[in-house]
Amino acid sequence: MRRKLVAANWKMHGSRAVIEELIPAIIEGVGGVSADVAISPPFVYLEAAGRALQGSAIALGAQNVSAEASGAFTGEIAADMLRELACRYVIVGHSERRALFGEDDALVVRKAVQVLRCGMTPVFCVGETLAQREAGATLAVVGSQIGALLGALSSAELLRCVIAYEPVWAIGTGLTATPGQAQEVHAFIRGRCAEQGAADVRILYGGSVKADNAAELFAEPDIDGGLIGGASLNADEFTAICRAAE
Ligand code: 13P
Repeated sequence: MRRKLVAANWKMHGSRAVIEELIPAIIEGVGGVSADVAISPPFVYLEAAGRALQGSAIALGAQNVSAEASGAFTGEIAADMLRELACRYVIVGHSERRALFGEDDALVVRKAVQVLRCGMTPVFCVGETLAQREAGATLAVVGSQIGALLGALSSAELLRCVIAYEPVWAIGTGLTATPGQAQEVHAFIRGRCAEQGAADVRILYGGSVKADNAAELFAEPDIDGGLIGGASLNADEFTAICRAAE
């Protein structure tokens, strides 16, 4: 049985004041929820967020990590540092990183390897653009992104990962993939992982998940929860999404 996971990606939002207000409200709201819940604030707030989460069942996550273990890499953050701050999850290869910061599959896979080396869970993001979907290339694009990960990891390592399918056209646009569209890609990803002995890998959907569409997405057989952007900055909305994963 795969446990559902709902992970917040705050992106470049938040402040100390937001943490002081939002995290206690989320802790209260998700009390007793059976799904795993994680919150990924910007790097500089990880320590404060970790303190605010202490004693709760909510895990801390980061939004990015260096592909290098340590060294002269100005401005980078190593996986060991995130581990030291008690991060359990690290998002790698978000489409914003791929599109805006030039990250390619090879780099994203190296990041995932660093996260695994430090005993944390990479949340490996994949997804097609609108042009790719309209060209009928969705499965080819996602297959190639997943293939890069599969080529680098053993089945035991793969099972320690979480995969997030986030169609680029659905991120921050209010356009959500239909449950059927998402399920098709999730089943495809699971099939590829199954060929490598990792059928039970958790696969999240991300892209305009809200309180009012979460339940129908999470009801699909291969959707194991969500990676939530905008809606994770509102305690009531995020809490309702976590409850939809029950
Ligand atoms: P939105 O939920 O704002 O569409 O963002 C999704 C996302 O990119 C999560 O990583």
